[in-house]
Amino acid sequence: MAQQDDVFKKIVSHAKEYGFVFPSSEIYDGLSAVYDYGQNGVELKNNIKRYWWDAMTLLHENIVGIDSAIFMHPTIWKASGHVDAFNDPLIDNRDSKKRYRADVLIEDHLAKIDDKIAKEVAKAAKRFGDAFDEAQFRATNARVLEHQAHRDALHERFAKAMNDNDLDGLRQIIVDEEIVCPISGTKNWTEVRQFNLMFKTEMGSTADGSMTVYLRPETAQGIFVNYLNVQKTGRMRIPFGIAQIGKAFRNEIVARQFIFRMREFEQMEMQFFVRPGEELKWFAQWKEWRLKWHKALGMGDEKYRYHDHDKLAHYANAATDIEFLMPFGFKEVEGIHSRTNFDLSQHQKFSGKKIEYFDPELNEHYTPYVIETSIGVDRMFLSVLCSAYEEEQLPGGDTRTVLHLPAPLAPVKCAVLPLVRKDGLPEKAREIVDELKFDFATHYEEKDAIGKRYRRQDAIGTPFCITVDHQTLEDNTVTLRERDSMEQTRVKVEDLHALIHDRVSLASLLRKLR
Ligand code: GAP
Repeated sequence: MAQQDDVFKKIVSHAKEYGFVFPSSEIYDGLSAVYDYGQNGVELKNNIKRYWWDAMTLLHENIVGIDSAIFMHPTIWKASGHVDAFNDPLIDNRDSKKRYRADVLIEDHLAKIDDKIAKEVAKAAKRFGDAFDEAQFRATNARVLEHQAHRDALHERFAKAMNDNDLDGLRQIIVDEEIVCPISGTKNWTEVRQFNLMFKTEMGSTADGSMTVYLRPETAQGIFVNYLNVQKTGRMRIPFGIAQIGKAFRNEIVARQFIFRMREFEQMEMQFFVRPGEELKWFAQWKEWRLKWHKALGMGDEKYRYHDHDKLAHYANAATDIEFLMPFGFKEVEGIHSRTNFDLSQHQKFSGKKIEYFDPELNEHYTPYVIETSIGVDRMFLSVLCSAYEEEQLPGGDTRTVLHLPAPLAPVKCAVLPLVRKDGLPEKAREIVDELKFDFATHYEEKDAIGKRYRRQDAIGTPFCITVDHQTLEDNTVTLRERDSMEQTRVKVEDLHALIHDRVSLASLLRKLR
């Protein structure tokens, strides 16, 4: 674990050093859980968003996009349930004065029990070697069985307390399990209280009578309240979807793990409107499609898993997370929720406006059911960054830090490097840049030795380096160096475009989703 912590620290400092992510307001000592994206970060982020947007709106004839405002009428949040129920259970430790999410303390405790089991299994695997039968060991080893029984009972108790919003029950678990504050090491806990996560602000001047408005905690409600506008103006027929990318804000109690849990973040959400009764079929379909989208990036199928929810949100009748293996364990990157007709019915009730759909095939009016796919851009960014980062040992004892980013997501696609800064090589290199830059994010670099320049491009994940040397002036060929293999091949300048396009185009990624 300590080793993984070190890797994560290195990734965070790499992200800063190479212009991916900076702490917000850094010269004023930063602002907790808020981050800025730098020159390379914004490109990577835009490429992630483009991949998602195109997968939704280009590959599905029945999905269109919108861009709704962050400010919305405050009654929307009353109708959606966020004013009353968008809460986290918080608890304070009286000695350290630190505030925690009670559910997170318990989840961390459960993870520790899982670790104990994993350690027993690893120890036995080492002892028995090839003869080791893990399933049999888990089913028969007394210590593992004891840990597992404890874990299962605790998990059940925890799920029940969460489902029942039983704050005393959560506190009692913390007390019974003797969970201590990670800072003070004591068990001196306060009661558990509910804490609403929405940020509030005032709209309009006080003299005119100002109105309390919220910074949206999810983009989804902007889709729901526009659902009929889009359906009518786009002549959409059920099933159809509306996609949106935009900022969301949550006053997270415990903000941690870099850009994993932020107070200002970005979501990519799609609401898919279906006939009542067909929602679970579509839920299964979207689960499959979304996992395929992730896996197409080639970051390793074993790094993903589904996590079906025990505690359903107030609006859902089925929900799952797609989790990704971060350096700090499997963590949620995307949620897929069957939201029933809760939101549309609530908006109909609170606005007094009819927002039913007339289904011409059934000759029937109804309130559609909704399947939602909701992914955090920043979490996706973090998963890509973590999976890409490698400190590679090279033959000869050298090391290089390289980002093996999926090529279509890389901020810079190719770098053109004149071998020396004279003899007409810079001019020739610029000529090549002037051709490639219309289709690919292209860097030109002439400073430092060529090896150093390769390393700098490796560190930001540039898939190709093109080296212009004296031979280029004679036969119009260059050296094309591939980032991951570091293989260098001699290619004709006129072939560069096709060779690069083949690897870096978003279309090549989208084709995998067919
Ligand atoms: N509309 C449904 C919804 O918002 P959610 O599970 O609360 O569902 C969806 O959030 C996704 O948004 C999460 O899977 C995660 O990727 C991202 N997300 C949520 N809270 C976040 C935070 N504080 N910081 C960064 N990303 C967050």
